[in-house]
Amino acid sequence: MVYHVPWIYTPVRTILAIWHQLTKTEIPELTRCSVLMRDRSRVEEVIHAMRWAGAGSLQVISDFDMTLTRFAHNGTRIPTTHNILDNRLLISEDCAKRMKELLNTYYPVEIDASRSPEEKLPHMVEWWTKVHELLIQQKIRKDLLPQAVNESTVMLRDGYKEFFDRLAGQQVPLLIFSAGVGDVLEEVVQQNHVFHPNVHVISNYMDFDQAGVLRAFRGQLIHTFNKREGALCHAAGLPELQRRPNVLLLGDSLGDLTMADGVSEPENILTIGFLNDQVEQRKESYFNSFDIVLVKDETMDVPNAVLRYVISARERR
Ligand code: C5P
Ligand code: MG
Repeated sequence: MVYHVPWIYTPVRTILAIWHQLTKTEIPELTRCSVLMRDRSRVEEVIHAMRWAGAGSLQVISDFDMTLTRFAHNGTRIPTTHNILDNRLLISEDCAKRMKELLNTYYPVEIDASRSPEEKLPHMVEWWTKVHELLIQQKIRKDLLPQAVNESTVMLRDGYKEFFDRLAGQQVPLLIFSAGVGDVLEEVVQQNHVFHPNVHVISNYMDFDQAGVLRAFRGQLIHTFNKREGALCHAAGLPELQRRPNVLLLGDSLGDLTMADGVSEPENILTIGFLNDQVEQRKESYFNSFDIVLVKDETMDVPNAVLRYVISARERR
């Protein structure tokens, strides 16, 4: 009603404008042209609420391949944890060729904007199952994994150290939830010196025999589109994640959006999606699904800026 009374309307508008200025987040990184937001005011509200609640209420859930690792560097693709195993130390030329053929068949399905996750699911199970069978046949030796990681071109995104170190410094748990190979993932994080005590990993782990030779993969298979089940089975039970209702979620696939489904009584969830590939075809679905979309951004600048704001030293509690 007040809005229809002209002499009240102007002061109200002024007060609202001042209030907006006062409460506006000071995150210049969010104004970059590589950043897309469907609803900027919701992002602002969630970030404010997270800041208000403080580091003690926060947990970060992140995908690994192509989210914490770079997608490409100088025009060349960065290997995923599966692709790091493509090293003659571990697998034969023939096995590498067959894994590449499978990648060329199934990766286009994984990122196909015209198919639903439900349609993709059986293809993903097929891909992962075939690759894991091939890897088991190769009798991979556990003691050679560090060398294979070291010889690979894998790179974490620029700014990764600030990201891992800040979370560790504020004792905010970081759950890395990956459909990649857990043993390789851990080695990548170790070799980058950021495997802090607050880091927890849910992934596909190798099972080695007494001689340290790969004989199977442990537990339920995790692929890109069944992370919800993994979240409900594993993440929901981790004591370190209890009573932390605010979640910063990072991913590069629409399947990653279900990684927070195991959080009990969530209050504020902010999702950030890296759109690395097939940008034009997938822009709309990412824009409609993630709160913040980062287009061809190989850095951790935006997640770091959000974290700096949410758990800065000026915390209120
Ligand atoms: O860590 P994240 O969940 O992203 O790991 C899964 C990624 O690994 C998928 O996006 C998929 O493209 C990739 N992948 C691969 N080779 C396989 C299976 C999956 O590069 N054999
Ligand atoms: Mg990924």
